[in-house]
Amino acid sequence: MLEVQGLAKRYGEVGVFRDVSLAVAAGEFVAIVGESGVGKSTLLNCMAGLDDWQEGSIRVDGQELAALDDDGRALLRRARLGFVFQAFHVLPHLDVAQNVALPLLLLQRPDPARVETMLEAVGLGGLGARLPQQLSGGQLQRVAIARALVHGPKLLLADEPTGNLDPGTASRVLQVLRDQARATGAALVLVTHSEAAAGQADRVLHLRSDGIA
Ligand SMILES: Nc1ncnc2c1ncn2[C@@H]1O[C@H](COP(=O)(O)OP(=O)(O)OP(=O)(O)O)[C@@H](O)[C@H]1O
Ligand SMILES: [Mg+2]
Repeated sequence: MLEVQGLAKRYGEVGVFRDVSLAVAAGEFVAIVGESGVGKSTLLNCMAGLDDWQEGSIRVDGQELAALDDDGRALLRRARLGFVFQAFHVLPHLDVAQNVALPLLLLQRPDPARVETMLEAVGLGGLGARLPQQLSGGQLQRVAIARALVHGPKLLLADEPTGNLDPGTASRVLQVLRDQARATGAALVLVTHSEAAAGQADRVLHLRSDGIA
């Protein structure tokens, strides 16, 4: 589902990482760990076609990202990708249900029942009419997770999705991510500093400036 070959990322002369190669199969759950600033979020952004790189290639569901222009990447993200950002990116003027429904609307597949199911799955049942400013940080994080899952993406990229949650809620939300990924055969790539979260993955990869293993 996801193949990264020899990826290198630099800002001008300053290298972030190089020689990063990994493959994640459909239905597989891989955790990526590494110290702060090593480039985990950058790597996920590259995988989503939201950032560019200097060497190497990334294939998502057989599609080489470098061969797509911005519009092509946006279409691929819309149809096949779910992304939970480190900084939620919940839209402040839409209510919770509208935020979660967004991927379905972009695909012209509105489905309020599915939206409510996802809200319940992350423990936010009944809060659909609230505005984001009326939620806690942990609740916002769960809105972002419900939104990433709602359209059943083939590749799910999650950047520290349990960072703002208490251990109990974190483990429940992680369970939702895993169950959904498993149910839909999606590949799940999770960036985390949490050993508990990484411990649930099929594989744990350690990112360093000179590679990943
Ligand atoms: N626009 C930029 N110009 C130069 N360097 C940048 C720029 N954006 C990010 N960086 C650097 O790239 C490196 C990787 O950042 P990234 O956010 O991917 O790290 P991370 O592993 O996700 O860290 P954390 O665990 O704290 O979230 C950092 O050292 C950061 O300083
Ligand atoms: Mg990060």
